Amino acid sequence: NMAPLIHKAAAAHYLTRDELELILNDDGCNDALFRAADKVRRQYVGDEVHLRGLIEFSNICRQNCCYCGLRRDNPHVRRYRLAEDTIVDFAAKAASYGYRTVVLQSGEDEYFTVERICSVVRRIKEFGLAITLSIGEKSFAEYQAYREAGADRYLLRIETTDRQLYEDLDPGMELANRVRCLDDLRTLGYEVGTGCLVGLPGQTMASLADDILYFRALDADMIGIGPFIPHPDTPLAAAKGGDVILSMKVMALIRLLLPYSNIPATTAMETLHPNGRILALQSGANVVMPNVTEGEYRQWYQLYPGKICVNDTPAHCRSCITGKIAAIGRPVATTHGFRQRNSSHN
Ligand code: 5AD
Ligand code: SF4
Ligand code: FES
Repeated sequence: NMAPLIHKAAAAHYLTRDELELILNDDGCNDALFRAADKVRRQYVGDEVHLRGLIEFSNICRQNCCYCGLRRDNPHVRRYRLAEDTIVDFAAKAASYGYRTVVLQSGEDEYFTVERICSVVRRIKEFGLAITLSIGEKSFAEYQAYREAGADRYLLRIETTDRQLYEDLDPGMELANRVRCLDDLRTLGYEVGTGCLVGLPGQTMASLADDILYFRALDADMIGIGPFIPHPDTPLAAAKGGDVILSMKVMALIRLLLPYSNIPATTAMETLHPNGRILALQSGANVVMPNVTEGEYRQWYQLYPGKICVNDTPAHCRSCITGKIAAIGRPVATTHGFRQRNSSHN
């Protein structure tokens, strides 16, 4: 019976690694866990759902992550990078839809030098938007330059805190450097977003418990969780893939342990379940990231197969998601949606 542990987590915002593992292994407690996370979400960050417009501005990547469809060794991807003016236009469109944040996401594309990124950031800041960058591992000096240009937040998932697994699945990358990046971002005053994949081959419940405790130790401002979805053109094509329920359990536990954090209902969850984002919003999440990339680019930004919205327009996604949010009685926020209180729960 996990009820006492769930109550403890909801009140004290802490569980040990062993306790987290017990809950992750017990599927009888799922509904109680989701209800507890929904309640903590309402108490700490309220009912408002924050919409962040996602611009996928380049699918060119120097890295070779074994799970990702955009890895450099995949020759079947039609590669693109958007012109600076196009990125700025998409951001203006996002602002006109009432979105208060844009997320600029890409592979690790070296064409986008620090000067180019800073120029785009400065131009988009003129629209009064909060800017989240999600462009990978960079030096302290680069992160500092983006910050000075006006970037507010940065997303860099740790993917997994299991060093062996990380370094097996991300050839040429080091877990220590990823941790260094997140520490640098924190030092520079960014709102720091991270997260992990659920269901990687060889990943254990204990390792997921460690991921959750890492997010808490970092006092992450945003945490995005998604199931791993095998991509046919990667070395993990034949892998089993993640489970949407387990992903939601990890997400719900994160809400209990980091009650003030911003947690997205991720696209990968909806890819595996037709109502995945709404179920996530009712199990701890308070953010959705509708795609505002226009035209055919969306279908070329396939981190994983079956990604939703690839044939939809930004306007369609906006009415789709706002309709679904209204249908569960939740308001769409009109503020920038910065993290509500900067308290650490140690
Ligand atoms: N399935 C699910 N998520 C994936 N990502 C990359 N490849 C996959 C996949 N096959 C996620 C990573 C990355 C984010 C942008 O997309 O966690 O950080
Ligand atoms: Fe590149 Fe990111 Fe995909 Fe890794 S997950 S290959 S860094 S786009
Ligand atoms: Fe894109 Fe529903 S959010 S179609």
